[in-house]
Amino acid sequence: MGKVNVAIIGGGTVGGGVYQALKKNGRLIASRLGISLSVRSVVVRDLQKTRNVKIAKKLLSTDWKSVVEDPKIHLVIELVGGVRTAKQIVKKALALGKPVVTANKALISEFGEELFALADENNTNLYYEASVAGGIPIIKVLREGLIGNRIPYIYGILNGTCNYILTRMKREGSEFGGVLEDAQRLGYAEAEPSLDVDGIDAMHKAGILGSLAHGFWIPPEQIHVEGIRGISPLDIQFSEQLGYTIKLLATIKPAKKTSDSCAIQISVCPTLVPNHHVLAGVQDVFNAIFIGGDIVGETLYYGRGAGQDATASAVVSDLADAALDLKHDTHNRIPPFVPHSEDGIVAPWEKTVAPFYLRLNVVDRPGTMSKITAILAESNIGISSIIQPEGHEGDMVPLILMVHDASIESMNHAVELIRKLKVVRGIPKVIRVENFED
Ligand code: NAP
Ligand code: HSE
Repeated sequence: MGKVNVAIIGGGTVGGGVYQALKKNGRLIASRLGISLSVRSVVVRDLQKTRNVKIAKKLLSTDWKSVVEDPKIHLVIELVGGVRTAKQIVKKALALGKPVVTANKALISEFGEELFALADENNTNLYYEASVAGGIPIIKVLREGLIGNRIPYIYGILNGTCNYILTRMKREGSEFGGVLEDAQRLGYAEAEPSLDVDGIDAMHKAGILGSLAHGFWIPPEQIHVEGIRGISPLDIQFSEQLGYTIKLLATIKPAKKTSDSCAIQISVCPTLVPNHHVLAGVQDVFNAIFIGGDIVGETLYYGRGAGQDATASAVVSDLADAALDLKHDTHNRIPPFVPHSEDGIVAPWEKTVAPFYLRLNVVDRPGTMSKITAILAESNIGISSIIQPEGHEGDMVPLILMVHDASIESMNHAVELIRKLKVVRGIPKVIRVENFED
């Protein structure tokens, strides 16, 4: 049996999980692969830190460069996070012709094209299964399982932390802040949790999925992103009354009604999902991705999207692929990313079209409603339903309108006019609705 010596650079939540998984199932993996995976080094920042996974002291180091350069190390796993040092680590290893496994979606989304090219130049491979959707093998699905399909749409709940927060806000009426602390304690959140709650983490993941599905590299700046900080318990409650659940949803689908009919829409934003749709029922830290293929039809993938063990499982699956590639001296059996539609484009966000939820805080007096509906009518935006709850205190009342398909451009314009009405106080809340009808 062959042996592959592995260095884990980063011994935190995921690195600790990979170390633990290899200890627990190393024999099983070896018997399945015919190769044993031997962890020779774990690199951390602080040798004195108390760790929830005990790592043998003799393996610990703080010097990633000498570990990566060590000729005894055959394979490098990058799990430090961030992009600066992570990029240096990955480039160094690839330049030495060593395969790299990473869970770093920010790195792949921002620099994937460059790093895949570097791997190719050095006749080695870069693996990134754990970068999207934690334990769900979604990269394999797109690269291998659905290789024979065009992918008309992908809808995904891609951030475990946000889904956990939104689930608890709905279930318990909890406030955002306290729930975020729980997500951090459970190891779901990024080291910098604003990456999660501001939608950046899901944006990186959506960019990776969109690039794989559509065959042109989609950089982060082309993806519309909004986080969940502005979602209030009131929005969750009214959405429920209307038959919807608010999810941080990644949407990758053809953009309708733009001048360029082959453009795609790619976004990550809070979205009202109908309660009867399977994605509305995805709770806690779970992720789910609903993918259409032109041959296979609808498919659904579900599992833990964050956390130590789920992510470790995905890293280990890449390790197995990498070990087999080393053993058989195979390179790019299925390339990590294949450009196949270099003229693909992303539609400008403001030209895309959707139905919307609009929550206003209005003065409760005759004529208020007609002023608002007049502005919507002038903007050619139709109303599908209205809620104005009874029993409010004072002279202000929430007013919730669901509107039919409108472009972001015309919706923004109408909302700006509504905001300026004397009968409207505060900032209107606008949330996209997805009815999965495309
Ligand atoms: P983490 O818990 O913060 O762990 C980071 C590890 O890297 C720590 O062990 C830290 O050392 C070490 N480190 C950081 N900078 C270093 C440096 N310059 N030199 C040496 N060691 C350094 O992060 P994580 O949650 O495991 O995430 C790691 C990666 O996996 C990120 O790219 C993240 O986006 C991705 N990911 C995470 C999850 C998840 O659920 N957590 C899921 C999927 C993907 P110390 O321990 O000494 O501080
Ligand atoms: N912080 C990320 C999340 C980790 O909550 O989904 C998994 O990529």
